[in-house]
Amino acid sequence: MTQPDPVFHPAFDIGAATLDCGVEPRTDSYDAVEWPDYVPLVDWSGCEPTPDQAVMNRWLTTRPLDALAILHVGAGNSSPARLAASTARAVDAVTVSPHELTHARGLELPGYTVHLVNKYSEQFACALTGRQFDCILDNNLVSFACCQRHAERYFETLAALLNPDGIIVTHRLGMRFILESAGVEKVWRLDTGALRTIAAAYGWQVAPFAGLHFLGAPSAVAGLHLAPSPATALLRLRLRAAVLPATIRMARSFPAGLTGTVIRTFRDKRTPTRRPHRKPHLQNDP
Ligand SMILES: C[S@@+](CC[C@H](N)C(=O)[O-])C[C@H]1O[C@@H](n2cnc3c(N)ncnc32)[C@H](O)[C@@H]1O
Repeated sequence: MTQPDPVFHPAFDIGAATLDCGVEPRTDSYDAVEWPDYVPLVDWSGCEPTPDQAVMNRWLTTRPLDALAILHVGAGNSSPARLAASTARAVDAVTVSPHELTHARGLELPGYTVHLVNKYSEQFACALTGRQFDCILDNNLVSFACCQRHAERYFETLAALLNPDGIIVTHRLGMRFILESAGVEKVWRLDTGALRTIAAAYGWQVAPFAGLHFLGAPSAVAGLHLAPSPATALLRLRLRAAVLPATIRMARSFPAGLTGTVIRTFRDKRTPTRRPHRKPHLQNDP
């Protein structure tokens, strides 16, 4: 009998130094950060959609949603579900936040199911076995990645869940965001080229459009390279215009303390003064 190869062979290379953090990603490890400047990304249930999520939502409303199965990774305040649940066949969402789960369930939207699971975990790889989604939304594909192995596991899970004609939708703003303060490596700050390198490992192509980035089989994304037309130009403008109000709303929705935290975090990103405690599942040292 052939034994599985215990050596990890990366499927793509964008320069990650930590190939395997050796710690299985969990949901509760997101609550284990003790340092005071930590941005509580864990509970976004009371916040407006982030600017990138807002653009993805606006794009979603331009699509015929009937009969589509949608997976939203990073539930936040369940904004895509609120837009799509009444028309789509099913909307599933994933979160590491019990508060977001409670909030989502309280909405009682038809066909909306939320899963409390870490997307980089084995548990998520098994959670939706057999399901196929036409559209997978994740504005932060690798923003919270602990290592190459677990990032790859997530992409393998997505590959298994994606309908052959389906598309994954992400956005440049979220691609550029990493939770660097919690030890996420800078290589996970993706540009279109890095996303293409990752996508190629799973047989996908990348089609950028007005900040949005679509991933999927060549035939699935082909139509999304929208040829220049007045309607396309208008859609492009409307999507770009969605960023600014959403940014202002997001800044306004921050509690004062959190605003300070975010400002400190961005300042610390420019001039790091001290090394934060790391989340247990992000520790790289043996
Ligand atoms: C900044 S909030 C954004 C929420 C929403 N996508 C938006 O943009 O408005 C980050 C979201 O990602 C989720 N999240 C973060 N890390 C995750 C992980 N490893 N697995 C699953 N969800 C995760 C959080 O629970 C939260 O819903």
